[in-house]
Amino acid sequence: MVNQLKNEIKDKPITDQLKILAEKFKNRIAFSTSFGLGDQVITDIIFSNNIPVKVFTLDTGRLFEDTYKVWDKTLKKYKKKIIPFFPNKEDVEKMVFEKGINSFYESPENRNECCRIRKVEPLNRALKDIDLWITGIRAEQSVTRTELNFFEENKTYNLIKFNPVLKWSLDDIIKHIKTNEVPYNDLYNKGFISVGCAPCTRAVKLGEEIRAGRWWWESKEKKECGIHVSQNENLKFEIKNYDNS
Ligand code: ADX
Ligand code: SF4
Repeated sequence: MVNQLKNEIKDKPITDQLKILAEKFKNRIAFSTSFGLGDQVITDIIFSNNIPVKVFTLDTGRLFEDTYKVWDKTLKKYKKKIIPFFPNKEDVEKMVFEKGINSFYESPENRNECCRIRKVEPLNRALKDIDLWITGIRAEQSVTRTELNFFEENKTYNLIKFNPVLKWSLDDIIKHIKTNEVPYNDLYNKGFISVGCAPCTRAVKLGEEIRAGRWWWESKEKKECGIHVSQNENLKFEIKNYDNS
C-alpha cells in the first residue's frame, strides 16, 4: 500500500499530492496541526486549495498565548474550520488534584502521564476512523527523524502516516510562509524553534539543538535527540522582515 501510494504521488508538487490523497481517502484523511511553521505551510495549502482534508489540533490546555493567537489568525484568514480536541476533563482533574499543576517537572513518569492525558488520549479520538494521517514533521528537526519516510505504516493507530514537508528545509518553509503571507507563531521571532506546551518549551540559543528547548530538564535519552541548527539566527532575521500582525 505504502509503495503504491509513493508511486502515485512521486515527483508531484505538494498541492497535487494532497489532492490525490484526499480523493483516494475521501473523509478518512486528517491533518494534525500544532501551528508550527511546517504545519502552517500544510494548512495554507489545504485551505487555499479547498482540499477536503480534516484539520485538527490538540489543545492540551497548556499552550502558549501566542499559539492561540496564530490559531485565531488562521481561522480568520482562511475562514475554514479547525477541529479542536481537548483532554478528558476527569483525567486532568484527577491528575492535577493528586499531583499538582506542574507534576511533569518531577519525573519522566509524571511527564509521560501528562502527555498521555493531554495529548495521546485526545489524539486517539482524533484518529478514530482515519486511514491517512498527515503531519508536519520535518527530517531536520531531529536526527531520529532523518530516518523517517514520506509514508509510514503506523501500527499504533492502524493507519498510514504521511509527512509531506519531511524534506523541506527551514528556508523552504520560510519562503512559502512569506510568499503566501501565512500567519505564523510569533514565538519564532523570540528565539523559539520548536513549540509545544508552554511549561515544557523554552527558547534556544544559536548552535543549540532544534529540540533543546523541549523538556529541557530531562536527559537526552528520555526524549528524541536533535541536530544543531545553524539557520537559527537567519530564521529570526528572515521572519522579522515579514509583517505578521
Ligand atoms: S512533538 O512530538 O514533539 O510534540 P512536534 O512539535 O515536533 O511534535 O510536531 C510534529 C508534528 O506532530 C506536527 O507537525 C503535528 O502534525 C503533530 N503535533 C504535535 N503537537 C500537536 C498538537 N498539539 N496538535 C496537533 N498536532 C500536533
Ligand atoms: Fe503536559 Fe508538558 Fe506533555 Fe504538555 S508537553 S502534555 S504540559 S508534559
